[in-house]
Amino acid sequence: MQIDVFFGPAGITAADVAGRAVAVIDVLRASTSIAVALDNGARAIIPFENSEDAVSRAKSFERGDVRLAGERKSQPIPGFDLGNSPLQYTREAVEGKTILMATTNGTGAVTASQGARDVIVSSYVNFTVSMNMLRRALRAGTDVVLLCAGQDRRFALEDAACAGRFAHHISKRLTKVRLNDGAQACVLLDKKYGDNLMKLFDASSHGRTLREAGLGDDLVACADIDSHSVLPVYQDRQITRLGPDR
Ligand code: MLT
Repeated sequence: MQIDVFFGPAGITAADVAGRAVAVIDVLRASTSIAVALDNGARAIIPFENSEDAVSRAKSFERGDVRLAGERKSQPIPGFDLGNSPLQYTREAVEGKTILMATTNGTGAVTASQGARDVIVSSYVNFTVSMNMLRRALRAGTDVVLLCAGQDRRFALEDAACAGRFAHHISKRLTKVRLNDGAQACVLLDKKYGDNLMKLFDASSHGRTLREAGLGDDLVACADIDSHSVLPVYQDRQITRLGPDR
């Protein structure tokens, strides 16, 4: 059994994900916002690599049924209903709505996982529910991929540390699990920061960028471990909450 961590979707191939359970990790902030949206009753989230595709897809819905969402350079996209702040995805804003979402790295990482056996969207806010699913998959003999979305096609410290937390917990007490080099490095990062996520975000360039943009409250929301016990599953090109019907 194998746990691979990949840093960014750019280099991954169909063979890297085929037949495997993939967790897409974009701690700051797409994975977090997706979990919050589903926990607050969003019907589904459809991820897009670019905002133009989201706008054109919106035309196939009744306007009242959708929310256009996403960011560029951490800021809401002009004309869109929501940015990428988890604090915006309140029940009032998203309940019953389909969210068409385009973010710089996170939504593209989700679409890049197309073809995997299972794809979930994970971060600290839904850590335990994600970890349990991945551990079950691993125990049943399915290899696991932890796909870090990164920042602007580069390594992101917070995604790597979160991947390390997953790799550590899902492989605990299991024999015959191999970790690729990326996964081993991530485990060391998780050991360094542990639960001190504000220290992690202060050290990460994305965390500092968000703080400098006045989005420090988003960091607090993204650091709230297990605050949204929801499992977002990407299937048929949309992300929905795992429930009795999925
Ligand atoms: C992304 O997808 O790149 C992010 O979630 C960026 C952000 O909104 O902080």
